[in-house]
Amino acid sequence: MAVTLQNFRQWKQQQRKITALTAWDFSIASLLDEAKVDLILVGDSLAMTILGHATTLPVTLEQMIHHTQAVRKGTKHGFLVMDLPFLTYQESSTQAMRSAGLALKEGGANAVKLEGGYPEMAETIAKLVQAGIPVMGHIGLTPQSVNQLGFKQQGKTEESQHKILSEAIALEQAGAFAMVLEHIPPDLAKTITETVSIPTIGIGAGVHCDGQVLVTSDMLGMGTWSPPFSKAYANLRTTMIKAIETYCNEVRSSQFPE
Ligand code: KIV
Repeated sequence: MAVTLQNFRQWKQQQRKITALTAWDFSIASLLDEAKVDLILVGDSLAMTILGHATTLPVTLEQMIHHTQAVRKGTKHGFLVMDLPFLTYQESSTQAMRSAGLALKEGGANAVKLEGGYPEMAETIAKLVQAGIPVMGHIGLTPQSVNQLGFKQQGKTEESQHKILSEAIALEQAGAFAMVLEHIPPDLAKTITETVSIPTIGIGAGVHCDGQVLVTSDMLGMGTWSPPFSKAYANLRTTMIKAIETYCNEVRSSQFPE
């Protein structure tokens, strides 16, 4: 049975932890789907992990939709969320509606994720939800604001903790179905999780969130760098390099083809 929007609130009430991972193409999506991951995110982190940019800012809406179409084909079970990239929703709710509409109509996503919980963004989210577009929020460290925040932990001061908590409440009131809490102190994530009725999905936010998300290429150990709060459950980079070297050696020595 495919995961639906209704599952997320039920799972929070039942205290059943939610699993989420990122995907960028058909083959990764079909692996995640076979492993029954609840939520598959086409994250704009693909700008860095797949397209080789230094930040998430350069990825375009067209590129995100292109990857989402491939991920859609490999996703039968998971709830598919597409990140709206930088400056495709911040300008106005009309711009956000157009971008989110394309994510669903052309990309085949079930929902969109966007960063920020400040009042104007909450208004935009409310309008998308009214139009029938499920929205996932993202607060704490918001990588699209890297030029203001850096890639640093947020919520270190009392003032910033208060701001993040009020953004979480605003996201819930706007009708978001869940929210990502990125790189904030675990105690703050716990307070938010106990305050709001929608699921919190943590990344670098401790164990008290209703679910967890990781960037799949970090989780599989495919890259050369990953953030300190991530965990590698495999070391695919080494495995793949070894396999490639073995192939090259066998071709050079005429061992392959047999
Ligand atoms: O773009 C991304 O990968 C994200 C993370 C929360 C996983 O937004």
